[in-house]
Amino acid sequence: MSESGYELTRIDGRLSLATPGGDFRPICVDFVDGRIGYRRRAQHPTGALLRAIGPIAKASRGDGEPTAIDATAGLGRDAFLLAWAGWRVIACERNETIAALLADGLRRAAESDDDTLREIVGRITLASDSAQMVIPQYASLASAVYVDPMFPPKSKTALVKKEMRILREVVGDDPDAGEIVTIAREAGLRVVVKRMSDAPPLAEEPARSLSDGAIRFDVYEGRE
Ligand SMILES: C[S@@+](CC[C@H](N)C(=O)[O-])C[C@H]1O[C@@H](n2cnc3c(N)ncnc32)[C@H](O)[C@@H]1O
Repeated sequence: MSESGYELTRIDGRLSLATPGGDFRPICVDFVDGRIGYRRRAQHPTGALLRAIGPIAKASRGDGEPTAIDATAGLGRDAFLLAWAGWRVIACERNETIAALLADGLRRAAESDDDTLREIVGRITLASDSAQMVIPQYASLASAVYVDPMFPPKSKTALVKKEMRILREVVGDDPDAGEIVTIAREAGLRVVVKRMSDAPPLAEEPARSLSDGAIRFDVYEGRE
């Protein structure tokens, strides 16, 4: 068990984050039956993130496939959305516990009997390392970087979703997220940053922002 009181344990074949007391629903990455699975059965990939990251048709570099770096992969929902839209995704996750959950979810999806699901997760490569290390390695292949750092808690009484609260207890804050933007921009990549709608930009003023309810996506254009 970790200092935070959470432990990784296998429940119904899924690596899951739980407490010995079982006082919350264990957290796992489930691309098959979880929220992503249900959403995928219903529709095509859509949403402000995909509009912000830009059209996939324009994104290939040289002969390569359109590639995006998800600098803050977490439980992989956004990485999955990008891969579902056709992007090859390099998913960076530096927290060992979260990276283990994501690796397990990707492995189970890759072994499922759903051809489309296997094809989608086949486009995701997990890099269990910090984005600051990974971006320079993939900068010549990728055209976009997506950054979704932990939001600072609004107040002690704020109704933060339980899963997000537990994630925060496990990974802490991401005070270095601005560095990712700097490194990606220096490499000439397009950058999309997810922010709370009332939060200041992570870097300088973005070229444009797309609103999506309580959040927004700040877009910094790359070099063509
Ligand atoms: C808010 S969560 C991301 C949620 C994710 N977009 C999703 O769809 O599940 C932020 C995650 O990014 C990771 N992270 C933050 N900064 C990072 C960095 N510089 N390199 C790699 N991972 C990072 C944290 O450990 C955490 O798991």
